[in-house]
Amino acid sequence: MELEVAAQLAAMVGYPADRQWGHLASGGTVANFEALWAARNVKYLPVAAFGAAQELGLEDIEVRLPDGRAKALGALDLWSLLNVEPEAALDLVDAMRAAGGDDETLLAALGGHSLAKLGYQEYARRLTATFGDPLPAGVVLVPSRAHYSWEKICHALGIGSQQLVHVPVDRQFRMDPGALDETVDRLVEERRPVIACVVVVGTTEESAVDRVDLIVECRRRAAERGLAFHLHADAAWGGYAISITRDGEGARRSYEEALCDAAPEVWPREGVYKALCAVEETDSITIDPHKLGFVPYPAGAVSFRDRRARDLLAVDAPYLFHRGQSAWGAIGRYIFEGSKPGAAAAAVWMSHKVLPLDARGYGRLICDASRGALALHRRLERGDWGDFRLALLPRPDLNIVCFAVGHTSFRTPEECNELVDRVYAAMSVGSGHPAPQLDYFVTKTALRWEQYGEASAAVIAGLGFTLDECRSAGGVHVVRCTVMDPFLADRRAGVDHIEGFARSLREVLESEMARR
Ligand SMILES: Cc1ncc(COP(=O)(O)O)c(C=O)c1O
Repeated sequence: MELEVAAQLAAMVGYPADRQWGHLASGGTVANFEALWAARNVKYLPVAAFGAAQELGLEDIEVRLPDGRAKALGALDLWSLLNVEPEAALDLVDAMRAAGGDDETLLAALGGHSLAKLGYQEYARRLTATFGDPLPAGVVLVPSRAHYSWEKICHALGIGSQQLVHVPVDRQFRMDPGALDETVDRLVEERRPVIACVVVVGTTEESAVDRVDLIVECRRRAAERGLAFHLHADAAWGGYAISITRDGEGARRSYEEALCDAAPEVWPREGVYKALCAVEETDSITIDPHKLGFVPYPAGAVSFRDRRARDLLAVDAPYLFHRGQSAWGAIGRYIFEGSKPGAAAAAVWMSHKVLPLDARGYGRLICDASRGALALHRRLERGDWGDFRLALLPRPDLNIVCFAVGHTSFRTPEECNELVDRVYAAMSVGSGHPAPQLDYFVTKTALRWEQYGEASAAVIAGLGFTLDECRSAGGVHVVRCTVMDPFLADRRAGVDHIEGFARSLREVLESEMARR
């Protein structure tokens, strides 16, 4: 079931059915971890191949370079070895296999030169000895709005969080393709290899969808300049939204067909639709059933476009895997976790049966939840809030609505932040607020200056402050409303929860203001 649901997710994304591989993990953090672990091992594979080729006399084998040329493996310098595209790196090992010789000898030779076996310290020492050209440490590119798990993962993999390069986002909180091009230019100049670039499909805070289609173009331009990297989609939050692009037969729908009736708004916007389709160009993806898949914890998923990447993670446990070559028997070799619950796979399998991964199933659910988020956004934006100020973030790409709050009497952004903290305390479960007494739950987050910078300018202006005032306050706190209810926009059974929420919010604002 675990492999079957992963194959269904890969088919929704558009990875080739005969090449993909994926499985379930405990959540998005572990799924992202495995993707970067594999990306890192594929990045350094040509270096291991170079060492193995010297031992085995295979230096003449040709390697495809990102600009389309082919060169003999033994003639490549370190920069070129670290800039072989992921597929070409995996093809290289196949070519070495095809060149004859004993498979076990080849794998042992590759292993002996691999980072996985040697560890960073010994590896770096050998690179300097072999190439005499120590390059700066490899980096991982993420949008500045990326989930905090990326920092943990860089710690755990020994990459170092200092090598996490944050690419600025635009005012829609999406990775800015122009800023990515500039970052690539700088890295080429510094001869700094890029292990991976992460695009986010549904940011944790705002559900913003990076323009994957435009980032794929950036990657093509980088390749022309000789810089190659693994492209990973962190679609932990928004991955299931790709289902809106598929019809019942699994074929891609046109944008016009995918449009939902969200009048007066258009949902999804064309850029978001294009981004969801372009995810098929990535090398790996994280999609969490326990987020927009509406399945209980613990269920994350990771999928690879090219199953050969998993071989670089493989470790055998002699006490396990007695089931021969079956796909099931082998799964533990390739994944980070050991024992884990089968219930998660059963839950995802069942959900995919009931709600297919296309426009009739998950697509409809997510479309309706997103329509609800748009209706809520519109209501809050247009509401009469008296002396209060509601500064909304731009309309969401998916289903999360965020807003800051202020008051005409406030003189500093800190006062606004304190009021948001009070709204959160009053509208979330805590001491004095057991769940049954709450009609609506919100969460909160902070648009920290160092992460958002000028991308938060519109919100700051909406509160009546300057960028400088917000910079010194460290950023802006916002209330975060995650709309999971597909019936919100249609005011099912005559219950208008959008009005209900606006009323509750107004009451809370007034009572908290009185208590200050
Ligand atoms: C974009 C994104 N990536 C990764 C994660 C980590 O997922 P998990 O909490 O399941 O480990 C999250 C969690 O919210 C997320 O929003």
